[in-house]
Amino acid sequence: MTTAEESMLRANAIGTPLTRLDGTEKVTGTAPYAVEHPVDSPAHLHPLQAAIALGRATGIDTSAAEAEPGVLAVLTHANAPRLASTGNGELEILQSGEVGYRGQFLGGVIAETPEIARRAADLIRVHYERYEHDVELRADRDDLYKPEQVNPAFDTDTAQGDADGALASAAVTLDATYSTPMEHNNPMEPHATIACWTDGELTLHDSTQGVYWTQAAVAPLFELDQQQVRVISPHVGGGFGSKGIPHPNVVLAAMAARLVPGRPVKFPLTRQQMFSVVGYRTPTIQHVRLGADEQGRLSAITLDVVEQTAKVKEFAEQTAIPTRTMYAAPHRRTSHRLAALDTPVPTWMRAPGECPGMFGPEVAMDEMALACGLDPIEFRVRNEPETDPESGLPFSSRNLVACLREGARRFGWHDRDPRPGTRRHGEWLVGTGVAASTYPVFAMPGSQATIRATPDGRYAVRIGAVDIGTGTWTALTQIAADALEVSVGEVDLEIGSTTLPTASGAGGSSGINSWGSPIVAAARTLRARLDEHGGTVPAEGVEATEGMPDNPHTSQYAMHSFGAQFAEVWVNADTGEVSVPRLLGIFAAGRIINARTGRSQLLGGMTMGLSMALHEESVLDPRFGHVVNHDLAEYHIATNADVGSLEVDWLDEHDPYVNPMGSKGIGELGITGTAAAITNAAYHATGIRVRELPLHPDKFL
Ligand code: MOS
Repeated sequence: MTTAEESMLRANAIGTPLTRLDGTEKVTGTAPYAVEHPVDSPAHLHPLQAAIALGRATGIDTSAAEAEPGVLAVLTHANAPRLASTGNGELEILQSGEVGYRGQFLGGVIAETPEIARRAADLIRVHYERYEHDVELRADRDDLYKPEQVNPAFDTDTAQGDADGALASAAVTLDATYSTPMEHNNPMEPHATIACWTDGELTLHDSTQGVYWTQAAVAPLFELDQQQVRVISPHVGGGFGSKGIPHPNVVLAAMAARLVPGRPVKFPLTRQQMFSVVGYRTPTIQHVRLGADEQGRLSAITLDVVEQTAKVKEFAEQTAIPTRTMYAAPHRRTSHRLAALDTPVPTWMRAPGECPGMFGPEVAMDEMALACGLDPIEFRVRNEPETDPESGLPFSSRNLVACLREGARRFGWHDRDPRPGTRRHGEWLVGTGVAASTYPVFAMPGSQATIRATPDGRYAVRIGAVDIGTGTWTALTQIAADALEVSVGEVDLEIGSTTLPTASGAGGSSGINSWGSPIVAAARTLRARLDEHGGTVPAEGVEATEGMPDNPHTSQYAMHSFGAQFAEVWVNADTGEVSVPRLLGIFAAGRIINARTGRSQLLGGMTMGLSMALHEESVLDPRFGHVVNHDLAEYHIATNADVGSLEVDWLDEHDPYVNPMGSKGIGELGITGTAAAITNAAYHATGIRVRELPLHPDKFL
């Protein structure tokens, strides 16, 4: 960095497009990911996975595996450490031979090389007793149940007024069912762990979104105190939610390491293994009903969601949540019902709840706008609520309309002929579409930051946060520099370990909010202490530690980010192929801490939304209970060829209520609404209304 750049950053570190502080390490391959940490004489684990969907392993013959040269140990339920019963059926593996889903871990081989471990695992013979399994989600199942709460602690159902009555008397109505498929998180770095036991304590180099969250889940299973489990994770190659809490792979690595005391055990999952053990986005079935008057004012909104969970552990996706906030209507109802299946356990996947939950309702808004004879932007503007429709709280800031208007201007929306199927370029049918985005402002409790000033003019900032590729290293350094009123070059940030002060994980787009707030608080305290020393730092240094300050505004305001997504879609009239030459997202998410990494977050979210729209679908074979397209050859993810121009911008939004930085969180906002905008554009292109993602070519033929 040049001196000129440094002095510019000193003036206002927050908001500047600082390049990633870990960028050089990342692109030169020196940033260590989980299994790349140098450890002495590592052993290697390959898992044994259930080949049936439901039943019991009645016999596991490990003799051939054990006889292989280079095999150190074979792990099965017969010799696995006993785990404490914590009620977590996903993590409590190898406590018996029972099989709850296909691919569940039944054991593993620990060997001198990964190749030996893999070959030996193939030599294990398992005899099963099979039970009849049940893996099919349908809305007409008679065993659907109502969970007590939905992720993480929202009301399962809500109701205001008389939605059925309002629908019966509405001038215009819509009654349609939408669905989103099972989808799998595919971060670039597979889930991976090095586990090592020393003197009864466990060290995990783990690819995780939260070092303290992993510690909190693993310690009680092995009946350890929290501090007896050390979790280290300085660099993570993506997570998207599936690394938010540990999955059975972390437990299997820790169990395996018990069998080879003193030796670290490396366990990186293969891409195919990830499709059965690290979670997925549950498929959803969304029944939407809307009622409006002749002027296009909504009188009723209902959303009834059916989705799956697993018998081994409940995960209830909060799919109806955004519908509770998006549009005004006096009569409202939302509900969630679950089918518990013999499948792996669903988990968080980028904007769990909001991402699938902004598909059905935002396509429904497009359909309803047409039914009311209104432009889809005008229809949304007409139904903009003054306060949060269900809580009645004022919004801390809400700039959805401004995003729609600015996006329309930038996209050239107003030249659009609203009639579907009227534009054509050769064999391509051309259309444009819009949808809204939203995501709540979450703050996790419990983080602490320590800042230490030393006489050499440096500031050491320590917090057990993690950087999953989002830019945490850079953004937290900027926040600290800003609050300390020093340059970013004077700040030494340490994150990514449970040896640092306690912190929440990277999830719910809450990282900057939850880690930045205590950093700002600690910086204020430190500056006050430095003032007491007359501005000079004594030889022993000066230190301050602060936790997450209380924010009285959280109970007074509804806090959400908003955005508008615009898509141009071409559908091939002969093949049904869908191509997206233009995507534009305009967002309002408070103050953007770093314009470069922030833009990257929003672009990444929209790219994942594009991928959801066009490709992503995990195909579960009902006969065998496994995902058949379980790798990147067959589970398609969007690439450059799927999109032409992908543009992101944001409004200058000032929100004094959310936190001391004025930032709202942007990791998940960008994925919400994207698939709906593309689907609405595909309808405009073709006149074919697709209500089931993804938009595979057959839907247009
Ligand atoms: Mo995000 S799906 O809350 O990690």
